[in-house]
Amino acid sequence: MGSGLGRMRGRKYFSASGKKTLRFRPSHFVSTQPKTKKTKTKPTVPVRWRQEVERILITDEQLAKRIKILAREIEKDFRGREMVVVSLLSGTVMFLADLIRHLNLPLRLDFIGVSSYGLGTESGELVFTKELRLDVRGRDVLLVDDILDTGKTMSRVLPKLELLKPRRIKTCVLLDKPARRTFDIEADFVGFEIPDLFVVGYGLDFAERYRNLPFVGVLHPHIYKEVIQRVIQK
Ligand code: IMP
Ligand code: MG
Repeated sequence: MGSGLGRMRGRKYFSASGKKTLRFRPSHFVSTQPKTKKTKTKPTVPVRWRQEVERILITDEQLAKRIKILAREIEKDFRGREMVVVSLLSGTVMFLADLIRHLNLPLRLDFIGVSSYGLGTESGELVFTKELRLDVRGRDVLLVDDILDTGKTMSRVLPKLELLKPRRIKTCVLLDKPARRTFDIEADFVGFEIPDLFVVGYGLDFAERYRNLPFVGVLHPHIYKEVIQRVIQK
């Protein structure tokens, strides 16, 4: 990847076996360990979603707090320049809306549509469903995505953007799942680092559902196992 594009892999938080080998824990790391007595009680999944969502991983309060901090970090980096925010559809909707309202900078906004046609929770063939319309030549671009998982999406989108000759591209993701990475890429700005779990809510979907949940929750495995079974039987 060229200079100024998404960071290459540096630190490793997990071994290949998926076992946690945390070297240091950033303040925005979301733990899977049971809470100690000192911490607040576990947030409960609203009754409406209890059949489908196993537990809440990141509450709306935690999201709001972290996104404000993230916006300050981005502001510092882009100060003095007009930026173009390029957001990937559709998983970024909630994150993007909350992030940009805290960015006290002149900015323009555009979207790239990209869909992954995979089975269940696995990413498959990438298809571009909407192209960028704004001219980003010589501009400072912030590329926003919902989650950095295998890294396939970012690895496809970054060279495509680079062809448009922006001055520089920085990447920002709400969630980072380093344990699943197969492409050599890191985001410049990360909201939360999470363990290898399939999550939904706050824009993230499973089969286009659950984007409207105000929190990030762990999907009950029985939901995606049922879908995979149905597809296999067809
Ligand atoms: P990657 O290309 O494997 O890095 O995955 C990026 C895309 O896969 C994201 O933009 C999401 O749409 C989807 N994705 C990956 N992990 C999850 C998850 O845990 N929940 C929902 N969507 C996910
Ligand atoms: Mg998705």
